[in-house]
Amino acid sequence: MTKKLEGKVALITGAGSGIGRAMAILFATEGASIVVADVVTDRVEEVVAVIKDTGGNAVGVVGNVALESDVENMIASATDTYGRLDILCNNAGIMDKMLTITEISDEFWERLISVNLTGPFRMCRRAIPIMLDQGSGVILNTSSLAGLHGGRAGAAYTASKHGLVGLTRNTAWTYADKGIRCNAICPGAVETAIGIGGDEPSELGFARMCLGTSIIPRAGSSEELATVALMLVSDDGSFVNGAILAVDGGWTAY
Ligand SMILES: NC(=O)c1ccc[n+]([C@@H]2O[C@H](COP(=O)([O-])OP(=O)(O)OC[C@H]3O[C@@H](n4cnc5c(N)ncnc54)[C@H](O)[C@@H]3O)[C@@H](O)[C@H]2O)c1
Repeated sequence: MTKKLEGKVALITGAGSGIGRAMAILFATEGASIVVADVVTDRVEEVVAVIKDTGGNAVGVVGNVALESDVENMIASATDTYGRLDILCNNAGIMDKMLTITEISDEFWERLISVNLTGPFRMCRRAIPIMLDQGSGVILNTSSLAGLHGGRAGAAYTASKHGLVGLTRNTAWTYADKGIRCNAICPGAVETAIGIGGDEPSELGFARMCLGTSIIPRAGSSEELATVALMLVSDDGSFVNGAILAVDGGWTAY
């Protein structure tokens, strides 16, 4: 049977754990050559080893999506190793502490926005010229239900993920006639290593989030997100562009 990503090169940020790890492993089994990008060295090495052990192609790059020099390095890993870049998954993200707007310091706000929103912007800024030269490319951003709703996280995370939805739509529209597609998935509750991002959750923010979590039908797995991602980055999703897709087991249906 033909593999869905044969000959493609996919760079996935936050590929060392959870949803990004599952994407990297699934895309490799579908024939893609993978750039495993993550800020944690051990995680990068583990995922590269898993892919290679199962006969796939992978190269690892350790870096922080919030740093321009690391972003440059991640993109160069794809082009230097494989000579092209077909798929970019902006998946790395960090949670907030459920902090309300009056509780957030400038430092905390800037750190979260730099990872969750500025990182994807910078990755796209370097990836899109390569995709334009190729005449094709696919970008998939990992937003969140907090990118669609106001009460699923703290203010900074919610704002960052709404921002990523806007970046997705603008990218999709701008390059729609240039062979580049851009979509976003909005996971509901997925069992991963991601935490609430600190040990001092705001009472108000956490209590509000719990109102939402009490109506979660069930938690999803990283693999359930990866199969949807595969559809969107492969030719199965060739007519899907600018979509903001909730993948939440029905949480938003409530
Ligand atoms: N798990 C959920 O319930 C859930 C829900 C909605 C959205 N999301 C989003 O899904 C994405 C993946 O999260 P996950 O749940 O798999 O979490 P995770 O913590 O298991 O994996 C995230 C990975 O990103 C890496 N990372 C963090 N900051 C980075 C940086 N600055 N540069 C490079 N890599 C970095 C981490 O080291 C980690 O390996 C995130 O964007 C998150 O906001 C998750």
